[in-house]
Amino acid sequence: MTTVLITGPTRGLGRTTTLALAARPGAELILLGRPGRALAEVADEARARGAVVHEIGCDLARLADVRAAATEVRKLIDAEAARPLSALVANAGAMSTDTRIASGDGYELTFAVNYLAHAQLIGDLVGSALLGGSALPGGSALPGGSALPGDRGALAPAARIVLLGSNTYRANFWRKLLGVPEADWRDPLDIARPATGPASPGMKASGVAYSNAKLAILYYAHELQRHVGAAANVVVFEPGWMPGTALGRGAPAPLQTIMRGVGRLPGVSRPERSGPMLAAVAVDPTWARLRDGAFVLKDQVTSVHPVAHDRDRERRLWEATAELLR
Ligand SMILES: NC(=O)c1ccc[n+]([C@@H]2O[C@H](COP(=O)([O-])OP(=O)(O)OC[C@H]3O[C@@H](n4cnc5c(N)ncnc54)[C@H](OP(=O)(O)O)[C@@H]3O)[C@@H](O)[C@H]2O)c1
Repeated sequence: MTTVLITGPTRGLGRTTTLALAARPGAELILLGRPGRALAEVADEARARGAVVHEIGCDLARLADVRAAATEVRKLIDAEAARPLSALVANAGAMSTDTRIASGDGYELTFAVNYLAHAQLIGDLVGSALLGGSALPGGSALPGGSALPGDRGALAPAARIVLLGSNTYRANFWRKLLGVPEADWRDPLDIARPATGPASPGMKASGVAYSNAKLAILYYAHELQRHVGAAANVVVFEPGWMPGTALGRGAPAPLQTIMRGVGRLPGVSRPERSGPMLAAVAVDPTWARLRDGAFVLKDQVTSVHPVAHDRDRERRLWEATAELLR
């Protein structure tokens, strides 16, 4: 019997993960996605597979929406209409093609959706009772929420928090050949600021923004584990390259066509392959001991590059996140 909250269940990896989870006996799912037909459809499909499903409409580009969604989750659990979460899968992701575009709160869109929205959600759902009375960044934003002493939050004991990483945070031979930019870390307040001036040509700036957001997720995972201690297990999942998903929807049309073709090549992953792996990392007993931001590439625990472990950057990101979510 598992209860899993997943963001971005409407397409790509989130959809296949949702359906893989739904097929497990006793599955209960809380689906957090942009309101609309796609959300209703995936919820119906999950129910048809036997799961109990709660849908919550939420645009992750608006922190007010995220806070409202967290309140709804907590109300469901408080009213015993849903069980406490055995796992929270922060899957939703986006790659804005223009780094001048701001989220509803004025932050660079890719950083806002991939990283800040999930930090807010987690801050609102992890109760202060698990943290010795303190709150996570964003946690105090929820009236009656996790800043209150004794608040048990929405997580079941030893819940898994699974964040979505990407190996693009660092370059390798293939990524250099394909022109995928690695992260270019700066102070998080600077990373969160939308670009100004004329549009940058090509996909370089948006690629760097995406890689920075994914490096932030690694830093956050390490710091989050230090704060939640034994109360939850923090893991980062990398699904492998899945070209042709909607993540590249803003790319030039010819490039999207090429990516869809590459996505059919053997050896390259697809949501249909990686989704069941992500579902397993979220709920299977085999993965229960993973914590400390362990990095799982499909079905293998892998070490991250030394750049992804940096106590100073991790501490600074934590502080800056609290400021950005205030
Ligand atoms: N594709 C890859 O090669 C790859 C590799 C490594 C890691 N990843 C990571 O895997 C995760 C899933 O990627 P994917 O390839 O499956 O992408 P995708 O097909 O574009 O799906 C992204 C999901 O996120 C949701 N989303 C985006 N912006 C949102 C917003 N503002 N509010 C609410 N939901 C929003 C989308 O909802 P809508 O349907 O409403 O747009 C969709 O359900 C991401 O975190 C991505 O960074 C992907």
